[in-house]
Amino acid sequence: MDRITIRGGNRLSGRLPISGAKNAALTLLPCSLLSAEPLTLTNLPRLADVDSFGHLLNELGVTTTVKRGAGDVIGREMTMTASALASTVAPYDIVRKMRASILVLGPVLARAGEATVSLPGGCAIGNRPIDLHLKALEALGAEIELAAGYVKATAPKGGLIGGRISFPMVSVGATENALMAAVLARGETVMENAAREPEIVDLCRCLVAMGAEIDGIGTDRLTIQGKTSLHGATYEVMPDRIEAGSYACAAAITGGDIMLAGARAEDMEAILAGLREAGVHVDATAEGIRVQASGALQPLTVSTAPFPAFPTDMQAQFMAMLALAGGTSVLTETIFENRYMHVPELARMGADIQVHGRTAIVKGVDKLIGAEVMATDLRASMSLILAGLAADGETRVHRVYHLDRGYERLEEKLSAVGADIERQSDG
Ligand code: EPZ
Repeated sequence: MDRITIRGGNRLSGRLPISGAKNAALTLLPCSLLSAEPLTLTNLPRLADVDSFGHLLNELGVTTTVKRGAGDVIGREMTMTASALASTVAPYDIVRKMRASILVLGPVLARAGEATVSLPGGCAIGNRPIDLHLKALEALGAEIELAAGYVKATAPKGGLIGGRISFPMVSVGATENALMAAVLARGETVMENAAREPEIVDLCRCLVAMGAEIDGIGTDRLTIQGKTSLHGATYEVMPDRIEAGSYACAAAITGGDIMLAGARAEDMEAILAGLREAGVHVDATAEGIRVQASGALQPLTVSTAPFPAFPTDMQAQFMAMLALAGGTSVLTETIFENRYMHVPELARMGADIQVHGRTAIVKGVDKLIGAEVMATDLRASMSLILAGLAADGETRVHRVYHLDRGYERLEEKLSAVGADIERQSDG
């Protein structure tokens, strides 16, 4: 395992390139299963989860070829061809390492009329059920059987049939699985209370590029006219709004000035509004988003909720930033039941944070002190990196494999804007 060592106190400034979005890539990759023709994705981030997904697609019979970005061009291009599926089973040993594997369920079922996927199980931030995924597929005529830790789905009526899906609560993954099933179902599907995250819009745009017919893109009501087949396409993955938001916090917490090159402001209005309310200057330009700290950070009251509200994936990073604000902030996590794993580690660096159920009270302190800390999940790990960038002294973040799942070349990008950061083997 590796660790990352940071010697804090440097003011970060300069240009930081934003990679393709992890959470868009992980729903665009399985679109390759929906066509016998090649799907090429460009601006794919070089991340562990993207590699794992490529291996899963290979298991299912998808051929994949990768073209790396030249030189310092971030990201890469992957062409996937599923001329025929060699398997309809996503095995436990792959799914347990990457929950997003569940996103092959809808497309494999739609393409082959059956799919068997290991139940993904929970993770550090919550038990992550998939009941909404399964109910959505049943609304399209699927029959679902749960046995021995696997979901076995079949489409007994000669394939999926368009229907009405009304989500009782917003679910990004369930919306994605349902979309990738509905595009090959017979007839019309109407989805109500669908997730509206920018990654869903990216998925819809990619499916339309492949010949799908979807109305209401960007809204919570989607209408899909199913097709008998989809054709190939070339599609560019959207920029990562959570990576951009994370590095915006790095500028804020170090009193810095960073141009987030390629970041798309319309995907991150709630994040930018929070930064502005905290006293940070944010300017959206054609090149990206410029984030400049200006004076002391102000406290905030923020509650996470589905898009377009403040995203749960930015809660830990804002908490690290607000640990140094001049006053008391109140953060409420409404999406996941256990997304405060970063709190005890931040406290070991001197942060003053009290958690009461879903709410965290963050009393700003004058400084943080570098310490040995442990990463537990992807976004919690980033909050420890952020704290280390601002802390007095040295911070060592262990188990950084969590970070490698969601942040492409993190130490290179931070070093390039002035951070004193290095990766070392943890033995
Ligand atoms: C996606 O997870 C993201 N992952 C998460 O990002 C993100 O935090 C989350 O959406 C919310 O925005 C990817 O896109 C790969 P949900 P997902 O279904 O789809 C409950 C990161 O750090 N629920 O919208 O799993 C669920 O337990 C990751 O990049 C059910 O009850 O999220 C949660 O409380 C973390 N039943 C809530 O809904 C279901 O069938 C939202 O989950 C599905 C979900």
